[in-house]
Amino acid sequence: MRLLIVGSLGGQISAATQIAMRHGAKVAHVDTIEQATIALRAGKGADLLMVDARLDIAALIAANEAEHIVVPVVAAGVGIDPMMAARAIRQGAREYISLPPDAELIAAVLAAVCDDDKPMIVEDASMKQVITLADQIAGSDASIMITGESGVGKEVIAHYVHKKSKRRDKPFIAVNCAAIPEHLLESELFGHEKGAFTGAVARRIGKFEEADGGTLLLDEISEMDLRLQSKLLRALQERVIDRVGGAKPVPVNIRILATSNRDMGQMVRAGEFREDLLYRLNVVNLRIPPLRERKDDIAALSHFFIDKYARSNGRPAKRLSKEALTQVLTHTWPGNVRELENAMHRAVLLSNNEDVGADAIRAPDGAPVGIHDATGAAIEAAQEAARHLVGRTVAEVEQDADPRNADALPRQPYACSTHPRHFDPHIAQQVEAIFGRRSAHHSATHRPSCLKRTTTK
Ligand SMILES: Nc1ncnc2c1ncn2[C@@H]1O[C@H](COP(=O)(O)OP(=O)(O)OP(=O)(O)O)[C@@H](O)[C@H]1O
Ligand SMILES: [Mg+2]
Repeated sequence: MRLLIVGSLGGQISAATQIAMRHGAKVAHVDTIEQATIALRAGKGADLLMVDARLDIAALIAANEAEHIVVPVVAAGVGIDPMMAARAIRQGAREYISLPPDAELIAAVLAAVCDDDKPMIVEDASMKQVITLADQIAGSDASIMITGESGVGKEVIAHYVHKKSKRRDKPFIAVNCAAIPEHLLESELFGHEKGAFTGAVARRIGKFEEADGGTLLLDEISEMDLRLQSKLLRALQERVIDRVGGAKPVPVNIRILATSNRDMGQMVRAGEFREDLLYRLNVVNLRIPPLRERKDDIAALSHFFIDKYARSNGRPAKRLSKEALTQVLTHTWPGNVRELENAMHRAVLLSNNEDVGADAIRAPDGAPVGIHDATGAAIEAAQEAARHLVGRTVAEVEQDADPRNADALPRQPYACSTHPRHFDPHIAQQVEAIFGRRSAHHSATHRPSCLKRTTTK
């Protein structure tokens, strides 16, 4: 976690620096917004800018954006000054921190931006296998593809691999390919030369060069467009990158980790992801199982999150009651560890007793979680089946639902650009099992709006 302090912070720089360093941040300081942009452009990267609220935050953000530099900004001002706070937020700051700095507030802001120091809880045998594999390959420079449903802990594993590698003292830089607009991502990754586009007033060092010697995590790599995929392939094969508008390749020494919650094989078959790039990235695949398949992790994680949130909310230590434990163990946790973490956070806040009772385990809207498990599982199965229907015609689904065709299921290309899905040869069995044979037709006609509409012959 790298923090760049901009301005004098009302004389509180050293106090803020000490607090941030105590929480594991590397801290640098510049006096002006111009120097901040110069530092970022030069590859002295930062995960967060803490900017004196008296400075022109809007101008700083605009200057960064013009150069395709994306870094969150928090403003810091002396005392609680609502007008100044409101102005800073209007100008684009994410938070306002009042000075003198409050250790807990700074820690919370740092934690929200960067999850570097999050511990990893592993109890289930299936996760232990993943960790064993991660341990075996962490020391090499092999690229790793980390896959699994949303919220299973892909980023946590990526940090773990970096910390176990010989690059651990070098930078760990993460880029979320889905969060950065396509036209900015190229500069963000590869940097650019002066004059490469309007606004490129000087050379800018990208994340590949920033991460030199260390690890680059390409989060949600499936969202990278095909042109950038080619550029990435070259970087992986030849260990050089081309800055945007640059004439000379720049050598880089990095280890690439990539994550995805989509089926990359299917993306390759659909022509959406380069096969050669997938081979390069997928030297080793760490597949993180969904939480519902790691029952022994559920209890351990629940206790861990309850302790964590009791402490951070100044509540006394709590235990999960027996009923509550049964409830968390039977819920299917479609949002995986993230959903469990949020549910335990809520449970700590909702329970007034020593124990966290079953009634405190609730969805964000207050609905009970886990007790209608049979229904929940049925709904999930139905939703899963519906997901497989997306992109297919009524005729195709009907044909597959007919057992006479079960052995000769054709492979169909994607039909829907917004929800590309490949044909699943088990669709007939799934649809029949869940909806009954004729219902397969029914559910297809009551299809999601993106399901392709064609006339049934
Ligand atoms: N094994 C674990 N121990 C402790 N906390 C965990 C573990 N796995 C995940 N978490 C926590 O769960 C949350 C989600 O994890 P993470 O961001 O790594 O998931 P992800 O797979 O990258 O999700 P997404 O696909 O949405 O990006 C984070 O707050 C993370 O700290
Ligand atoms: Mg992630």
